[in-house]
Amino acid sequence: MFIHHARLDHLLVPAQYFSPEQHRRELERLFLPSWHLLATTAELPRHGDFLTVDLFGRPVLVRNFHGDIRAFLNVCAHRHCLLTHAPRGNDPRFRCQYHGWEYTKEGHTGRIPDAGCFRPFDRDNARLTTLPTESCGQLIFVRLKDEGPSLAEFLGPYHAYCAESFAPPFREAWRWEGCYEANWKVPIENSLESYHVPCLHGKTFGRFPPEEKCEHELTEQYTWFKTRDESFGSRFQSWFARRLGVPSTLIYEQHHVHPHMTFASLDVFRLVQVVYPTSPTTCRQKVWLFTARGHRPGWMRKTLGRLMAPVVTVVTRQILFEDRAIYPDIQRGLEASRSRGVIGTREERVYVFQKYVLDRCGVPPSSVEPSLRQSRF
Ligand code: FES
Ligand SMILES: [Fe+2]
Repeated sequence: MFIHHARLDHLLVPAQYFSPEQHRRELERLFLPSWHLLATTAELPRHGDFLTVDLFGRPVLVRNFHGDIRAFLNVCAHRHCLLTHAPRGNDPRFRCQYHGWEYTKEGHTGRIPDAGCFRPFDRDNARLTTLPTESCGQLIFVRLKDEGPSLAEFLGPYHAYCAESFAPPFREAWRWEGCYEANWKVPIENSLESYHVPCLHGKTFGRFPPEEKCEHELTEQYTWFKTRDESFGSRFQSWFARRLGVPSTLIYEQHHVHPHMTFASLDVFRLVQVVYPTSPTTCRQKVWLFTARGHRPGWMRKTLGRLMAPVVTVVTRQILFEDRAIYPDIQRGLEASRSRGVIGTREERVYVFQKYVLDRCGVPPSSVEPSLRQSRF
């Protein structure tokens, strides 16, 4: 059942989905203090594997040092060049691309070509900026600020959930990344309600579950939705789950950890998604899908696990692509809207999310007259 019994205010005004001032406040108050899921250990399996990302305009490098995962600002201490511009790769030496300064996993300098030129050497100045890095299950999280909550505090009950869900017998089956012409809150809000299911997912999900089959929990830090899914697809997964030796429950769960991370699961899969703002009106979404591979070895389990992974991937991708097609139209509507909108009880998690944003980012920016906004054409 839903928690609320009457319609709810649309707390955020349309301008909060395109205002540069709102964007600046959100970066400062929601994103800089948060932990950010950047990769999985499956992406960096060997010593020297690295990947780079742009996080809110800050270049970040994540690297495997003999199994120890560390993150740094991707900026050399010598003359500020990016250590590497490659999106990912492997280099046994942790070395800057420009003059070849080498670094240790603590960010101290190692070998420096023609080092005598730098006498007397200033060790404190010549080091990389390290970033707090923690793993949970196979998920790798990074924080940009030195001070802030631990990952366990940030994730709350989801710390244990991640440790269990994104670890054997579940294994990464698919990862995907996409950029959208929409404010980051658009895909997040879309993922928080089942109201759009008949319109957008008519061919995949079909109908939304009746209220009596929906369970919601609403808190300041997170919200979740659970339902018992008795569809053919769910029963099909349940059949696989029993043979793979993982619990078969038919329970579909969707969780949102504020501000930008969501988890979804049914018996044989675990899905995590994160949405990063890249400007007031654009964002980037990253998705990792894990599927069950069975607890014990054995050709039967191995084969079933391998067979199931692509099936779950195809369905997940289809649903994801059905959703993403609508985002630019929502954004276009927000930028032209003259009304406040309204939230139904089925969408009450959207209301809680908007309240979270409003509580932390303060009063809405003054409304912008649509006709005065720059035309896109
Ligand atoms: S800028 Fe990196 S070695 Fe010179
Ligand atoms: Fe959807």
